Amino acid sequence: MGDSSSQQQGLGRISAIVLQTRGRLKWASYLCSTVFVLQYLMQSAEAEPVLGTSLFRQCRPVAIANNKTEDCCLPEPEREPILFKFEERKKMLVRRPAHELANDVEYVNKYNLAYKRMKELPREDPRSFLRQWHVHCAFCVEAFLSRYLNGTPTPYPLQLHYSWTFLPWHRMMLYYHERILGSLINDPEFTLPFWNWDNQLDAGAAQMPQMFVPYNPPNPAIDNFYLYAGAIRDQNHYPPRVMTLNFKPAEDKAGIIPTPEEIRDANLCMVWNMVVNKVSAQEYLGGKYNTSADLSAAGNANASAESGGSELLHNTAHEWVGMLNNSAFPDNEDMGVFTYSGRDPLFYSHHANVDRLWDVWQTLPDGVTVDGTRTRKEFDDVDFLETEFTFFDENKDMVRVKVKDTLSNAKLGIMYQDMSEADSLWINHKPKASKPSFRTTQLSSTPDDYPEVVANANNTIGSTPVCFKLHRRAPTKADLKGTQVKHIGELSEGVVMEKVKIPEMMYVRFDVYVDFPSANVDSDMDQSDYVGTFTHLPSGVASMESVTSQISVANEDLYRELNVRFTTGLALRRLGIEDYSTDITVTIVPRFRDHDADKTITFSNLKQEFL
Ligand code: C2O
Repeated sequence: MGDSSSQQQGLGRISAIVLQTRGRLKWASYLCSTVFVLQYLMQSAEAEPVLGTSLFRQCRPVAIANNKTEDCCLPEPEREPILFKFEERKKMLVRRPAHELANDVEYVNKYNLAYKRMKELPREDPRSFLRQWHVHCAFCVEAFLSRYLNGTPTPYPLQLHYSWTFLPWHRMMLYYHERILGSLINDPEFTLPFWNWDNQLDAGAAQMPQMFVPYNPPNPAIDNFYLYAGAIRDQNHYPPRVMTLNFKPAEDKAGIIPTPEEIRDANLCMVWNMVVNKVSAQEYLGGKYNTSADLSAAGNANASAESGGSELLHNTAHEWVGMLNNSAFPDNEDMGVFTYSGRDPLFYSHHANVDRLWDVWQTLPDGVTVDGTRTRKEFDDVDFLETEFTFFDENKDMVRVKVKDTLSNAKLGIMYQDMSEADSLWINHKPKASKPSFRTTQLSSTPDDYPEVVANANNTIGSTPVCFKLHRRAPTKADLKGTQVKHIGELSEGVVMEKVKIPEMMYVRFDVYVDFPSANVDSDMDQSDYVGTFTHLPSGVASMESVTSQISVANEDLYRELNVRFTTGLALRRLGIEDYSTDITVTIVPRFRDHDADKTITFSNLKQEFL
């Protein structure tokens, strides 16, 4: 590809910069992975602010399915990178819901024209559509190595999902994407539409928005060709199908479509679970960016740690829009795979809603902990606040922006149209039935009848439900350490599955229930014993050996190691389990795709934890 020579030069340049800025690690040692790894392990055991940037170029093509690669490395900036500044705006820009804009002829035509122009820009131009989706591919599929703020590379590929970087990075991706679109149509007030898929009040809101699919019947006044041209999607999910946030791929493939009531209940229950029920920053935004993952685990190429509710919830729309492993598209070049998701204009509108929900989350009352007085706030950890990203702006300048500058849309001059009436449906949602604990109804069965998780063993999830016994205890003062609260009653109780090894190229989905040992794929999620769903989308990954080489190749044996957290406090109280001395069962209900029926996923431990 056209960039490989500039990449080589870029490498020379990084060498110079790194040698200048930090003597502790010699660039040369980077080439010798063993030495590097040892040095690295000795000097760092904690998270540090991470530099998510193409500034120090060390970029390689990323893996896609079928042993192929995609080169999504970004061009060099033409000028010195500039620092992010808040812009003085006379008025706030308002992003509006896509379903309400479907027949706004002027808006849709303008939006279409912006994408037409963006798609016509030459590939070297960082504002071009190609480079715009490459931004997501490069930073979210591990084309770069992550770096500390002083420029020193970590030995890990940069991956901005699966951690607290997820929301801030995608917010700024939208910010610049929107500005570029606006500048291409000379409309500095242009705003992206948001795909309001959580909305169960307005018909059509949770369908794939009309403006992104051909109008049927055609509307001669509207041209939206560039909002769908070239995007590979599951057309069975075009309107009038409504996106189901508890999407069940196997059933879907078999043509089983849930009823409108089932969809509504499941969608409200999932948004409640993944947004309202996540009262701490870690539960909603995700875990610390992990700069010191276990290098000794062969094949573990993951740099990050734990997805938050926001990210887990958002994965479904990716999967829903993309193809279900259609053999006509063997590389999965669609929204269902992070490598390609930015190639669909709908991706940006989907993320605008993810971003909107973050705004809503910030304003929600507690409603979850025992005290009920907790305020929701972002991390105040410097490692979070000082993490830095780079983006190209509408003038082709590379801008360096820190997470601390991303935490308020209002400061960025952006707001979302008020959707509080629809939001209130999920904010106030309660599970259909608060059934009593299973022990009061099935006297023969107790948690002791189920196996305990053996820590550090390969505890396995296969394609059928599996139930474990979980010990519980009351929180103590010691649990407050490292959390955002000062009172025990404001802690959020949860269960964490540690070191879940997810095969890299696998779509993984499992639902988790507490105190419901016989939960299975047919169980109703809209019950108090359902505590959440984990989803994983495939993306390219590099093996540890290939971190030091320029090419990463997809490998079925590679896995990502994640902690997976479910919030249980309120669910248990609703089940009538008010005390902390009662042990419970945790049932994991996998929903693997048909062709993955023989796969297994292991984890090292399952434990109660307070945040
Ligand atoms: Cu970076 Cu929705 O993905």
